[in-house]
Amino acid sequence: MGSDSLEGSWRPRVDDRLVNEVLMSALTLPTLLVAHELKLFPLLAERPRTLEELRQELNIERRPLRAVLRLCASRGLVSIQDGRYALTPEAEEYLLESSPASYSDYLNLLKATSPLLTFESVKAAVLSNAPQAYGGGTDIFKTHEEQAEQARSFTRMMHGHSVGPASAWPDHLDLSGHHHMLDIGGGSGAHSIGAARRWPHLRATVLDLPTVCDVAREYLTQAGLRERVGTLAADMWQDSLPKADLHFYSEIFHDWPPEKCLLLARRSFESLEPGGRIVVHEMLYDEEKQLPYPAAAYTVGMLLWTEGQQFTGPELSALLTQAGFVDIELKPTFGYWSIATGRKP
Ligand SMILES: C[S@@+](CC[C@H](N)C(=O)[O-])C[C@H]1O[C@@H](n2cnc3c(N)ncnc32)[C@H](O)[C@@H]1O
Repeated sequence: MGSDSLEGSWRPRVDDRLVNEVLMSALTLPTLLVAHELKLFPLLAERPRTLEELRQELNIERRPLRAVLRLCASRGLVSIQDGRYALTPEAEEYLLESSPASYSDYLNLLKATSPLLTFESVKAAVLSNAPQAYGGGTDIFKTHEEQAEQARSFTRMMHGHSVGPASAWPDHLDLSGHHHMLDIGGGSGAHSIGAARRWPHLRATVLDLPTVCDVAREYLTQAGLRERVGTLAADMWQDSLPKADLHFYSEIFHDWPPEKCLLLARRSFESLEPGGRIVVHEMLYDEEKQLPYPAAAYTVGMLLWTEGQQFTGPELSALLTQAGFVDIELKPTFGYWSIATGRKP
């Protein structure tokens, strides 16, 4: 300890709010996962309830229950009015299992992989520059090819995360002149569903690993879109791409280093006819690569799971230009999400 600092009229130059925000945020996710496991949110969705009512329903003591509720309230997931706790619109849309855009399976996966979200795991990822998921050092998608259950949990997690933005980006492009969208690494098919709902003439194909296509067919059936949206079990790196006039990549580029993204963009350029369009959907960094906070945190997530990182808009534009696309546009679409799009001349 510097003894000088204790003398005279020394004060820190700034207060410690920021440091407390950052350090205390470590408790938010575990608390949210506990609330999710306790099924606190569906209980509040039935009707606003007092602490005493919740205590009786959940059989938990007042002190811990109040602590959980107040942390949720401080983050805007719960509101408190006249002594009753209720869900905010954000919690209703994204935290209830019954909501179409539910992050419930996302929370389930975070719970199941909670050893990843630790000091040891982040340290190992930072020091080794190798993903740590599933025991570390593996390509998670190769693991998914062999472990159907892990592929299913991952795909369900991605579905909840994708439904909201998938309902929005198709409003930002005129797809009336396009006929067939190839949703490369399409996962659950959330984005094909979003596009097909917005553009009723459009057909789509979800291209992904065989185990993932099985899950996609379940979601497509639920959406009543099996006639217009098909699946294709294929390897996006090696297999020839079927005919389509729109190539769509959501959260594919952020899984890979830029040189591999360029390879994908070039494969699309070769496969599309002139006039064909590429769309890349990602959560983008701003140009300084500092904000928004979720994009910066997501890049640490990518260290833990993949070889990738989040991009800035200009980085995606440059990749598409390098692959030969023209008329590049960047459009913010929903929350932190954006698309980059270009046309084959
Ligand atoms: C981060 S997820 C994105 C899923 C979906 N596009 C979305 O935004 O919801 C990455 C997807 O790429 C798929 N994928 C990874 N390697 C692949 C490959 N070689 N061929 C086809 N799909 C692949 C994964 O199975 C997974 O569904």
